[in-house]
This record gives sequence, C-alpha cells and structure tokens, in this order.
Amino acid sequence: MTAEIAVEKLSEAEARAELARLADVLAKANTAYHAEDAPAMDDAGYDALKRRNAAIEARFPDLKRDDSPTDQVGAAPSDGFTKVTHAVAMLSLSNAFDAEDVQEFDGRVRKYLGLSADAPLAFTAEPKIDGLSLSLRYEQGRLVQAATRGDGAVGENVTANARTITDIPAEITGAPEVLEVRGEVYMSHADFEALNRRQTERGGKTFANPRNAAAGSLRQLDAQITRARPLRFFAYAWGALSAPLADTQKGAIDRLADFGFSTNPLTALCTSSDEMLAHYAHIEEQRATLGYDIDGVVYKVDDLALQERLGFRSTTPRWAVAHKFPAELAWTRLEGIDIQVGRTGALSPVARLQPVTVGGVVVSNATLHNEDYIKGLDSKGQEIRGGKDIRVGDWVQVYRAGDVIPKVADVDLSKRPADAAPFVFPDTCPECGSDAIREPGDAVRRCSGGIICPAQAVEKLKHFVSRAAFDIEGLGDKQVEQFHIDGWIAEPADIFTLRDRYGSGMQQLKNREGWGEKSAQNLFDAIEEKRKIPLARVIFALGIRHAGEAASNLLALHYGTWAAFEAAMQSAAGQEGEAWEDLIGVDGIGAVMADSLVNAFAQEAERASIDRLVAHLDIAEAKRADTSGSPVAGKTVVFTGTLEKMTRAEAKARAERLGAKVSGSVSAKTDILVAGPGAGSKAKKAAELGIETLDEEGWLTLTSGA
Ligand code: IVH
Repeated sequence: MTAEIAVEKLSEAEARAELARLADVLAKANTAYHAEDAPAMDDAGYDALKRRNAAIEARFPDLKRDDSPTDQVGAAPSDGFTKVTHAVAMLSLSNAFDAEDVQEFDGRVRKYLGLSADAPLAFTAEPKIDGLSLSLRYEQGRLVQAATRGDGAVGENVTANARTITDIPAEITGAPEVLEVRGEVYMSHADFEALNRRQTERGGKTFANPRNAAAGSLRQLDAQITRARPLRFFAYAWGALSAPLADTQKGAIDRLADFGFSTNPLTALCTSSDEMLAHYAHIEEQRATLGYDIDGVVYKVDDLALQERLGFRSTTPRWAVAHKFPAELAWTRLEGIDIQVGRTGALSPVARLQPVTVGGVVVSNATLHNEDYIKGLDSKGQEIRGGKDIRVGDWVQVYRAGDVIPKVADVDLSKRPADAAPFVFPDTCPECGSDAIREPGDAVRRCSGGIICPAQAVEKLKHFVSRAAFDIEGLGDKQVEQFHIDGWIAEPADIFTLRDRYGSGMQQLKNREGWGEKSAQNLFDAIEEKRKIPLARVIFALGIRHAGEAASNLLALHYGTWAAFEAAMQSAAGQEGEAWEDLIGVDGIGAVMADSLVNAFAQEAERASIDRLVAHLDIAEAKRADTSGSPVAGKTVVFTGTLEKMTRAEAKARAERLGAKVSGSVSAKTDILVAGPGAGSKAKKAAELGIETLDEEGWLTLTSGA
C-alpha cells in the first residue's frame, strides 16, 4: 500500500496504483454512506482520501482516471420517502458522563424550579436504546403515519414499513383522539447475527452493528424487505396529544403499555441522584445479557407539570438527561498525523490509524485536538498522560463514546519504535503556505491566509450551505467541494450566479457525473428559493468565528434588519463607542464574540465577499416569534427581590418567550421593574426614574393572557 508515501514523493507507477486504489475505496465508501446506511469511514477520513486523490491528480494530470472520484458528486440521498413535518419537534438529549454530571443535573433542575436540595423530586430512569427514533401518529386509535426523526423538524414518512413491525399496533383502544407515540426502533443481537448470516449466504452486504441494520431495514423503499427484517420497538415518549396521558412520566408510559406498546421493563422511579446512580449501575450490569444494544440510561423528571415548567433549550429538554456508558477503548498503531485546516483557519491534527474496531465501528482516524495535546500538555500547560507525547509509529489507545469523534487517549511507551521522532507541528498552513500563527492564550494555531486559503474557503462554503445556514437542497459538502475544485464556486456569492454561468440549457451541469436534467433543474430551483432568507441564517452562514446559531439568532433579533446589523458592525470598529457598547450589551454576546464579528467586517477582502453575497439576497427582517398580542414585547424588564411563584431563571425564560428583554440593572431604558419582597436599591432607582413597577402578582396578571 502506498498510503503513507507523501504525494510529492510518489513515482509515476506508485501514483497510478494509488489513484486506482483511491477510486475503489472512495466508490465503496460512497455507496456504503449513501445507499446502505453503513458508513465505512468517517467524514474526515473520506475527505482526506478525496484530497489526497486530488493532490495526486494535480501532480500527474495525465494519470487522472475516467472514473476519478474528483468527478463524482456522491449518490443521491434516499429521496424515495416523502417528507413529514413533525407536529412537535423530535429533540435530542443532553449528556451526562459521570456521577458528578448527574448530581449537577439534579441540582440544575432544582435550581430552575426553585426547589431546595431536600425537597422531594422524582425521576424515572430507563435504558437508552441504541436504535433510531420513530414517531407514530394515531388518530381515533388508528396508526395513520410513522416518521423517522430526520433533522428533528422534518423526517421521512416510513408508514408502510412501520406497519410491518409487530411491536407497533395498527390499532389501539382507549387512547386520546390524537396520539403521537415516540420510541426507538432496534434490532436484537440474535436477529442481527441471523440477518448477517443470511446476507452472507446470499452474497448480500452485511451490517456493521444492530443499529445500522435497524436503520437500513426501516429505510427500505420496499416494505416487503422491511417485513423480512425482524425489527422491534420500545415506546418511551410522545409528541402531539389531544388529551394528557397522565400526570407523571411513569403514569404516561404505563398507559402506553396498556395500549399495547412494549415499554422497557428496566424503567424505575428514583427519588434522589443516589437512586438514579444505583439504577444506572444495575442496568450497566445487565447490559451484556439484555440481548440488544443500549448506550446509557435516561433520567426524566417524573412530574409532567414540572416538565412543562422546565421546558426546552434550543435542541434538548431541561427535564431529561442521557447518562452515557463509558467510552469504548481499543489499541492500535498511529500511522501518521495529518493537519486539516478548518473554516476559521484552525490547524487540527488528525491521527491516521491502523483501522481498528471500537464499539462496533471501524475507526481509522481520530482527533489529536491541538499541538499541546500531542506534546502531552493541556490548555493550561499542565501535563496530561503523565506528560507522554504522541509520535508517529506509536501504539495508541483510541476511544469513542456514542457519536463523538474518536480520540487518541493514551500511548504505550513500551511499544514505541526506536526511531520514532517527536512530532513537529507545522508553522505554515499545509494548504496555502501562509504563516500559521498561534495567538497568546489560544490553544489553536491558525492559518493567516483568510479567504485566499483554499481549505478555509471550502470549509466556509460547506458551512454556508449547511442545514442551519442556507440549507440548499442538493448542495451538500460533497457537491460544494466538487464545484470548488472545478473553480465553479469560490465564495458564497458564486452560488447565486451558478445558473447564469453554467445553467445554459443545463448542459454543463447535467453532463457531469451524478447529475441529470432533473437534478440540475432542482438544484437551480433550490438556490433560487434561498435568495429570500431570514437574517439569523445569513449571520450564521457567514461562518464568523464564535458566532454560532444561538448567537446569530440573538443578533438578528437585536438588530432586526441586515442594514442595521451591518451598519452596527462597522460603527463598532475600534471596539469602543455607542455601537460597540450596544453590541456587547446584547444578552448572550460576550466581548470575544463581539471582537470576532467586528473584525470580520473590518477585513477588506472578507467585507467585499459579504457585500457580493448580500447583493444577491432578499434578507427578511427578524421578528420575535409568537409575541403578537404580548403586552411586554420589545420591553426591557428587570426582576429584583424575591419571587415566590417562580424562580429567576423561569421568570427570565418566560419574559423572553413573550418578546421582552431581561436586563440585570435599572436604567432609563428599563420599561418595567418587577419587584418582590426585599427589593432594594433597584426599586428606589426605578421610582426615581418614574419606571412602572409591578409586584410578582401584577406581572403574572399582565402576562397571563399572552
Ligand atoms: S427520551 C425530548 N428516552 O436518544 C427527548 N430517548 O440522544 C425525548 N433514546 O433522539 C427522548 N432511548 O432517539 C428518550 N429511553 C429513551 C431513549 C431515547 C433512546 C434516543 C432517542 C433520542 C436520543 C437522544
């Protein structure tokens, strides 16, 4: 194998052989990823091979193959299912990894609810099933629709397939008129092994683990294939409901069991974090003999009225947490260290490993975090791993937990080859040659090339089209990479001129491998559709360091329009003055993020690129959701003193939901002061400024109708 030889050192014969090998490996990975729900390698590994292939082709243009992976844009995602918009979003769970995290979860819930440490508070504890979630909609007791989770908002309609699963009743009695039952589809170990045996006998493909087998089986376009695959289902939650199921989580699950659903027999009611941890240990002991995969224990607040009060963060409920089982470990050889350049220029070291199976998945790449981590130091300069550094050739311990990117955790010095040399982290960008600089206090070394760096440009483009940004159907990572390599798209603005430049009669696009008349037309339509776009998405899509999805939403709500946002970013240059104060005054925007935003707009090349983009867009004004009719929308509210009916956190969340801005101090900008018993100087100041002051009761009356 020639994988270790640097591209510059390959002979022509080696290059030819390597291109053949890469074409084969990448084609197989493509099929596994797109059509079979069985990823053969992770994204970083795939991208690295693709880049290696492109680099070899650049050096030996004559050797480029007819079936070059550079010209493939990946098989279409399964588009055979219709889409279902979930009536209630299907969220995920936040994670806990140890006893302390579980105690903190209990503490957070109590704090939010204003409960003392010894007040009674019950939780359910149940296994976290390692399958895929499914939402089943029953109307008048009949199963009318089954949908996968998808991105949480929109899933795939798999009703015909769900009807083949014996654990899923087609009809139920005694249920509310509308009932969405949610749970996990999974495959037992025995059924998984039998399926793989059958597949081998028939010369079909085998699955890497029961989860992939379950996903692959449920997402069959032919329901007869699903029928032949023994899938199971555990119910553990619900979505839309026309009437409550019970007052408690446990009561609701018991009702689902009464309707005929399988519910997990290891579900217990716990009254303290100690009891939760004891039940976790009990479940973990049984893990190997359960006969199906679980990857942790889920704790949920039992009282549904409290669940309702706790509510949700953007993607996870506050009332539940998944306590994951410890990561799985394996030892293997470190064959090389590659440096990848990310969207913000960060140089990330990636371990190339001799492939090894860790917890059912073949791992060939793992993150090495940053240069200090390789040296055996943490972000504060303290030794980790007893100060052992990591060298190419070392025997290393790889670990992965759930979906987390595998990590190199440890190194066995007794197996270190005599000639292994300390790793020298590059001080220039491997992609564009610009200086790679490490600012004081930053753990990460960054390429200073900005948008002239092709790696940064491509990563920025991928971010631009990602789901939470422009989300252009038909334009994913692979396509963007392809278009970038071919020089069709250098920056976001180019996406919006694609049709003018290459759309003539669809000839050029539709002649490309992987594209046809229809998909080309669809792509151009999808791009057109996104010219009109909400402000928050545009801000997020710019890919400015630190400005994530939540911050982009806050900024959009604060500034309202693109013109106001852009003007403010420019006026805030110099990091002082009114615009700067206003920016860092936005709740949730810190000085580091503000700095990063202002700097992005101050850089000429970046600024010009943003201007070119915006010229193609119709950016919709940001409006606070659901606050019409809210008497406090747009008002600035300050809470002071003791609140008796709710905690501060709850009061703040409620006020913000109603479109108010909550501030910590009284000023001329304050509209309402809510003062409970013990209110001191703030109440006095509000009186001086003539600000409307309410007690808690008054506040509740004011906001109860909204
Ligand atoms: S409750 C609002 N309970 O884990 C959250 N989820 O990491 C409702 N899962 O997407 C989920 N077992 O697919 C819940 N006993 C259990 C679960 C469980 C597995 C999955 C589910 C969810 C994912 C979150």
